[in-house]
Amino acid sequence: MNKQKQMKNRRDFIKKCGLSTAPFLLPPLAGSAKSLVANPTNTASEKTLLNFVYDGLALSPQAYLEKLHEINAAQAIEPDFYGNGGATKALEEEFAARMGKEKAIYLPSGTMANQLAISLLNGNKTKAIVPENSHVYRDEADAAQSVHGKRLIPVGKGKPFYDLKDLEAAIAYSKEQEVFRSGLGTVVIEHPIRRADNTAVPISTIKEVSDYCRANGYKLHLDGSRLHLAAAFTGVPVADYAAYFDTVYISLYKYLNAAGGAILCGEAAIINQVSHQIKIFGGTSFQTWGNTAVAMHYLHGIEERLETVVGKAKELIAALNEIKGITIEGLENGTNVYNLSLASTISLKKLANFLYQEHAILLSRANEDGLVKLTINESLLTRNVPKIVAAWKTGIKEARQ
Ligand SMILES: Cc1ncc(COP(=O)(O)O)c(C=O)c1O
Repeated sequence: MNKQKQMKNRRDFIKKCGLSTAPFLLPPLAGSAKSLVANPTNTASEKTLLNFVYDGLALSPQAYLEKLHEINAAQAIEPDFYGNGGATKALEEEFAARMGKEKAIYLPSGTMANQLAISLLNGNKTKAIVPENSHVYRDEADAAQSVHGKRLIPVGKGKPFYDLKDLEAAIAYSKEQEVFRSGLGTVVIEHPIRRADNTAVPISTIKEVSDYCRANGYKLHLDGSRLHLAAAFTGVPVADYAAYFDTVYISLYKYLNAAGGAILCGEAAIINQVSHQIKIFGGTSFQTWGNTAVAMHYLHGIEERLETVVGKAKELIAALNEIKGITIEGLENGTNVYNLSLASTISLKKLANFLYQEHAILLSRANEDGLVKLTINESLLTRNVPKIVAAWKTGIKEARQ
């Protein structure tokens, strides 16, 4: 192929992907930074972009609209009315069945799902125990204290997750040291753990904590915003996880690719109280099918697709590790996030720019330790492994300095 034709093909490719603007390196995965950054994937079609940055496909508005069209063309989407009926009811029923719970309900956000779960499970009890590094403790604007009148007690500071010993010690401390006792109602686990690079809480720990809570009359809530991702990497089915908890929340936008929303599953006695609470807090939306129809679309077959993703990820990482100058390591109890480090002779910026411009492959920026968090998601299904490896090999050559 002559040079001019090559250039034209490249231009066509970039145009097709909507990647005409110069890319810049994205911030590290940790914290909320990745969702705050101006997102260069916004113009790229889900079919062509392979991102190692997000938990899901990061659909552009155009790709989202196309997806809704596709879903609607296959079977007309039925609207809900203030969250009742239609696609939303169908999703709630599907989730309840998949999680082995009596009921499920759509909420506008995971924050509201976590907070209402704690509030309703607690009843009149004032205390809830939460992981110190959890979203519910550190990223929900003290809603439990300021809105719901519940006091959150953090456990496991400095660790990715607390274990039964930590929990028992925290409970003993508050029992022994408090003169005017008010009850502990709920214990919360976050799994996988966002602030620890989506690492998993071992199933043995979940079981121990659950057995203890059941034996002592405490309710247990799971912030499982990324539960299917964890399940795919640990091999523990989502329903097995859910069985240890009274309520389980799952995000609709992290890997189910909806524009927003959350699902809370649990027994009918709790879930039946949620819609009134959503209204009280101003969260009732007239129509929610735009989120629930997309989430349902991606929920179907999620286990099978993620199983393929896990297999491909292993194959890919083994092959990339063969390239001189690249080291990719899994984390302890890791799920979909890996640490990528490059030899000092390789420019990450050049590599990332090359991969993005030439192959629509998106990398994160390095963190302060020089590590790039390589996040695996369903976009891995858009390419075959040898093709991805070939792109990286050329990219590394271009990026040597
Ligand atoms: C672990 C975890 N829980 C809860 C939430 C809250 O979800 P939402 O943004 O829907 O309120 C998030 C969102 O980032 C999360 O990562």
